[in-house]
Amino acid sequence: MTENINRPIGIFDSGLGGLTVLKEVRKLLPNESLVYFGDSGRAPYGTKSFETVRAYTKQDVAFLLSKGVKAVVVACNTAAACAGREILDSFGVPVVDVIGAGSEQAVSVTKSGKIGVIGTSATVGSGVYERAVKALMPSCEITAKACPLFVPLVEEGWWDNEITYQVARKYLGDIGDIDTLVLGCTHYPYLEKVIGDVLGDRVTLVNSAKAVAMKLEKTLKDEGLKSETANASTEYYTSDSVEKFGTLGKLFLGDLGGRVFRADTEAFS
Ligand code: DGL
Repeated sequence: MTENINRPIGIFDSGLGGLTVLKEVRKLLPNESLVYFGDSGRAPYGTKSFETVRAYTKQDVAFLLSKGVKAVVVACNTAAACAGREILDSFGVPVVDVIGAGSEQAVSVTKSGKIGVIGTSATVGSGVYERAVKALMPSCEITAKACPLFVPLVEEGWWDNEITYQVARKYLGDIGDIDTLVLGCTHYPYLEKVIGDVLGDRVTLVNSAKAVAMKLEKTLKDEGLKSETANASTEYYTSDSVEKFGTLGKLFLGDLGGRVFRADTEAFS
């Protein structure tokens, strides 16, 4: 058991967006070592088919398991949406995903039961958030909207400029009478200010990165896997250029606080 406790937590995403999740996990669980895998070589996932993303997801988890992780966080909404819980529950370690965590949080904060969800085309097309939220609150009304331009805007570092405001107004102007909006994509927490300004105070934003960190903490406690030692380290792996990961990673996270390695993609094909 003790041996398991000291193993790292694996976090993966299609690329760097999942660093929003890593940041929240590090804040909440500073004693945990982390292994992050960003599949930038095959990103974006949000525009790919269900079958392709499902196959990538299995390979991403296999890669993290090859690093000896004790639990996995699926930071990528698209990966979680396409894989589904049945696959995520089949790896022999606890797997926590953003969709379950974000849905639980949305249900706990909504007052009117009118909930919006935004994400990539694949996530919204899968209908997974509707199912997850409705399973928790059958009476709720869900409005889901794909916002594909948000990911490139965030990667460009355009987190609150006029063009981003215009795009947000176009996507969200007709979202309707919701009181809660789930930011169902790794990148969207960077647009919290813009989205909040466009929707106003009547709408509470659910940052699924924070929600998944809280769910992870609960899962580790329940499974007796929460580390109490302060010797935590972070390692990053990318399926694309290490230099590019380092540069963009700094934009997303500030100091990465760990080394970046090229992932041995042979290990997971
Ligand atoms: N990580 C993806 C998600 O959370 C967004 C980027 C992509 O499309 O790969 O849905």
